[in-house]
Amino acid sequence: MTRRIVLAGASGYGATYLREIAQLEARGLVRLVGLCDLQPLGPDAGKQFGDRPFDTRLDRLLAGTSPDLAVVATPIHTHLPLSRQVLHAGCHLLLEKPPAPSAAEWQEILTLSRHEELSCQVGFQSLGSGACTRLTELMAAGELGEIRGIGCYGAWSRDAAYYQRSAWAGRRELNGVPVADGALTNPFAHAVATALALDRSTGWDDIADLDVELLRVRDIQVDDTSCLRLRTARDTVITVAVTLAARTPAEPVIVVHGTRRRAELHYTRDLLLLDGQREHHGRTSPLENLLAHLDDGVPLHSDIAACGAFTRVLEHINATPEPRLISERWLAHEGDGSRTHIPGVEQAVRASAEQLATFAELGEPWAV
Ligand SMILES: NC(=O)c1ccc[n+]([C@@H]2O[C@H](COP(=O)([O-])OP(=O)(O)OC[C@H]3O[C@@H](n4cnc5c(N)ncnc54)[C@H](O)[C@@H]3O)[C@@H](O)[C@H]2O)c1
Repeated sequence: MTRRIVLAGASGYGATYLREIAQLEARGLVRLVGLCDLQPLGPDAGKQFGDRPFDTRLDRLLAGTSPDLAVVATPIHTHLPLSRQVLHAGCHLLLEKPPAPSAAEWQEILTLSRHEELSCQVGFQSLGSGACTRLTELMAAGELGEIRGIGCYGAWSRDAAYYQRSAWAGRRELNGVPVADGALTNPFAHAVATALALDRSTGWDDIADLDVELLRVRDIQVDDTSCLRLRTARDTVITVAVTLAARTPAEPVIVVHGTRRRAELHYTRDLLLLDGQREHHGRTSPLENLLAHLDDGVPLHSDIAACGAFTRVLEHINATPEPRLISERWLAHEGDGSRTHIPGVEQAVRASAEQLATFAELGEPWAV
């Protein structure tokens, strides 16, 4: 069946959807019936989809094109208003992550989608990885033994231009509305959501207690170097230690410490290491999975309802005092000063995942 689809947000991450939609169109699975953005289409998108209806207002585009589903890949603080328009128009929704910048907004999207009996998938693409599914199954079957804990580490590098690219980058709020663009809630949101999913603790009530250390190396409102530790209702300890101020960036890893086996999930690479043995897997994208759900009732990989525990973490971070600026004496700068890193942070995030410890417990001097 060919589904009629519209895309809101055609550049930035939306460009990924444009490429995927072009491929799905070629397979006859979707037909792009309209595009919405505040900016005109760029040259590539114009060449490919310049013949399709374009509007700066999503509600008007939805009314004029009657799609089956809409993809919303716009800034976080626009997710609720645009989701309302999609769901009120009777369309299924694929919403980029994080689904909303506050618990109240997440709850409203969830309630509305249920009320309208429409599907809402959230774009946590790591949850569609075969490596993630396999590890979840192994854990559930007890193959790793008792789970002693799950630790995630991530070390990326973002320069000054990253935070200058848009008005909402690096913001907790913008013009009085929440944005929640911190390292744990946006760039490393997949780490948090995937660790929770591995433990099958995705509901709001599946977290027993949680704590965060929020730090920053830049003049921004949010954390760029952070450590989350929580205990799920099934008594699993989960830590997520991440930074955007690494000198030597590497892809993030989730370590599952079992009493019998150790697993490492490299969630951006669909790679699973079981006691060091490598398994490469494929992945199904959030859009393909949503189409299969609509056609054949295949379960969604990332239903909006299954973002409860993630949103609880986000809400906790929103309520935590602003991140502390790391003292200049622990920082190093490169080039024209646009790149800042914390020497040794790569080892610190890794140690956190291995020992399920916070930066302060590890005695990291920049964290205490
Ligand atoms: N899944 C992933 O791996 C991944 C990666 C990067 C970003 N994202 C998510 O994608 C979303 C977009 O992020 P981005 O960095 O591309 O943002 P962005 O600021 O680059 O904006 C994306 C596009 O949305 C348009 N836009 C803004 N407000 C709009 C509105 N009200 N109506 C229609 N269009 C509007 C912008 O003009 C732009 O073309 C965010 O939720 C982000 O967290 C997901």
